[in-house]
Amino acid sequence: MSSNRSSFTGKIGFVLAAAGSAVGLGNIWRFPYLAAKYGGGIFLLVYIALSLTFGFSLMVAEIAIGRKTQLSPMGAFRALDKRFAFVGVLGAIVPSIILPYYSVIGGWVMKYAYGFITGDAFNMAQDSYFGGFIGQTWEPLVWFALFIGITAIIVLFGVEKGIEKVSKVMMPVLVVLILFIAIFTLCTVDGALDGLIYYIKPDFSKFSIMTVVAAMGQLFYSMSLAMGIMITFGSYMKKDISIEKSTKQIEIFDTGIAFLAGLMIIPAVYAFSGGDPEALGKGPSLMFGALPKIFANMPAGTVIGVVFFVMVFLAALTSSISLMETVVSTIQDKFGIGRKASCFIVLGISIAFGVPSSLGYSAWGGVKILGLQILDFFDFASNNILMPIVAFLTCIFVGYILKPKAITDEVELEGNRLKHKKTFNIMIKYVAPLCILIILISSVLDVFGIVKI
Ligand code: PHE
Repeated sequence: MSSNRSSFTGKIGFVLAAAGSAVGLGNIWRFPYLAAKYGGGIFLLVYIALSLTFGFSLMVAEIAIGRKTQLSPMGAFRALDKRFAFVGVLGAIVPSIILPYYSVIGGWVMKYAYGFITGDAFNMAQDSYFGGFIGQTWEPLVWFALFIGITAIIVLFGVEKGIEKVSKVMMPVLVVLILFIAIFTLCTVDGALDGLIYYIKPDFSKFSIMTVVAAMGQLFYSMSLAMGIMITFGSYMKKDISIEKSTKQIEIFDTGIAFLAGLMIIPAVYAFSGGDPEALGKGPSLMFGALPKIFANMPAGTVIGVVFFVMVFLAALTSSISLMETVVSTIQDKFGIGRKASCFIVLGISIAFGVPSSLGYSAWGGVKILGLQILDFFDFASNNILMPIVAFLTCIFVGYILKPKAITDEVELEGNRLKHKKTFNIMIKYVAPLCILIILISSVLDVFGIVKI
């Protein structure tokens, strides 16, 4: 499995492919709703601080583990220390939980792209539209099936190499569009500037440990960390490419797009609702409610809406491909079965978890797990429980078993220097594991209602 690994076409190829995985619904759909919900500016501040410290160190570590071992996550942990092989397995469970509900949201995006294409823009801007759509039993399921089906076909035929090419076109268009929409909203919508202040000015009275819990979960999710994806990418990376520089570029892409997406959505929601906390805390439906309203007020709004939702669809697709690819290759490795069989198994798992996630908004609306809607439960279980566990174990593994030197040596191959070596060592050995542990305990206590934080 380690022999003849293909590699990326070069430095930019690696960055684009990794950014293709990182930039997706996490940035455009999830980040804005969390930022709106957890107090705007304070969430943004915590998120950026975590991204520069935790995010950076973990990403460097994961890419380096992959490149050093040239193996898939499971193989990599096993090769370095048998006792840690289970971390690779745990890491593979995360994307199998995310992929199904990710595809449900991917389906919603497709529905909106289709709606704009077929001239339904006016209806989509109505308040009740989104609720009416996800409240139906069948239609969201059909869109979900389409989204996961397209992902599976691409993975099955192994044409993921196309990701590099898709990302090359998609990223710049997406950035320009989001920026344009944000500026348009700020300049034309009454009250949007107050929303801007809400989004960027930290209000420390809104800080709670849940801000950090949410920001950290979002960081792992958005940067595709703590699930072996970056290990896989690292295993395809050539030795002469700088891991540190690539990590920085991926972070800039990822955090930049998330920031801009917040800029596009939060001031608008704030303005439309007059700063109503309930509207800001709306959760998963935030983007779908706000954007069609912005487009409705915009010259050529329908065309912009079409291009926008198609781009978001592509961003979601490059991410879902990387999610599925990881699970497929892990199952292949672990059970020694072929690619096709493995692909069908993953498709089966995705349908089994995806259907309830979708029905949680309609027929199964009354079902709550630990007080959460089904989709929110999967989201919480992967981002706030499993990912911190994997990240914690990765830190312990790198800090105390493998030793940070093995990672920094790998980073410094072929004359590259790791500028932030000290920060890296301290982060991986002490700060990151301790913080993750505190955060993990708080989110468990919170969800089981033991302590309300
Ligand atoms: N990082 C992706 C996003 O922000 C989601 C994702 C998570 C993709 C995990 C792959 C792995 O949308």
